[in-house]
Amino acid sequence: MKRNAKMYETVAALMTPGKGILAADESDGTAGKRLEMVHLPNEPENRQDFRELLFTAPGIEEYLSGVIMYDSSIRNSTDDGMPFPDVLLAKGILPGIKVDMGTKEMDGFRGEVVTQGLDNLEERFNEYYDLGARFAKWRAVILIDEDTPTDAAIEINAVMLARYAQIAQRVGIVPIVEPEVIFAGDHDILRAEMVTSRVLQILFQTLIKYKVDLGALILKSSMVLAGDMNSEQSTPAQIANATLRAFHMSVPYEVGGIVFLSGGQTPKRATENLNAIAKMGGQPWPITFSYSRAIEEPFLTTWQGKSANAEEAQKMLLHACKMNALAQQGRYEPEKDSKLK
Ligand code: G3H
Repeated sequence: MKRNAKMYETVAALMTPGKGILAADESDGTAGKRLEMVHLPNEPENRQDFRELLFTAPGIEEYLSGVIMYDSSIRNSTDDGMPFPDVLLAKGILPGIKVDMGTKEMDGFRGEVVTQGLDNLEERFNEYYDLGARFAKWRAVILIDEDTPTDAAIEINAVMLARYAQIAQRVGIVPIVEPEVIFAGDHDILRAEMVTSRVLQILFQTLIKYKVDLGALILKSSMVLAGDMNSEQSTPAQIANATLRAFHMSVPYEVGGIVFLSGGQTPKRATENLNAIAKMGGQPWPITFSYSRAIEEPFLTTWQGKSANAEEAQKMLLHACKMNALAQQGRYEPEKDSKLK
């Protein structure tokens, strides 16, 4: 079977209706911030416990099609010695890998950043493929301020995403391209919509220029939201309309799927907004969630780093996954859900 045909199968599996992706791909540093929430020091054993509890939670396979890991976690195992990718594969969940190496400031561009990580990427991809990864993620960061984002920042990040996607597809790994428009700021929703549309337009022009197969690719996007410091917050229906308008203006219909990051929204808001988007009816692309914080936070607040709470915390994880799986189908009833905050 041709590599592209296999990648289409991977896309179809990841975008299975009623399922989504857990982004458990925090770098070791960011994983430390999660552990800080439960008063645990950022040590390898605690990061392993955290991931083991997530990946072994009974029933998650009903709602998760994929899990994105980080370099240290894709090489890690359970206490019993089962490699994490095998734990996921045994449940029918596809293992994924974050391959970017974080951001660096762009000299002369106040506050703007470019994502690093192209060095040795093909070799790294080959190794991750052997470890079980069938899809990957690269995140670019776009900041909205008075005079940002500049076209230069959007363009360099688009080229990096395109080059990463080319290399991923050569190896047979489905690239998730993630241009995250950051929620922090005091911009209104209209500005977020304009910026998101422009970022996506430049990104897809670049992906096409670099001959990336759009059917074997998934877009990971922010929802279109007014900045967290803006006094006028929007309703889920307004967010859904603005987000889908931006996509229809910018995302070619052959793209394999679109997944959302939660971006610092509360778990409940992220779920309600996904639900509102699904309620707008069928779109040219399958759409689902690929949350980190919105799924992990309910788990972490229940766990508190204590083994006595582990079972309850796994139930809470399952609940967050289930609510988002319902939201993916427009069937979430926020008023009946007292658990997500
Ligand atoms: O790159 C961002 C993560 O994959 C999603 O994280 O849901 O916490 O925004 P988030």
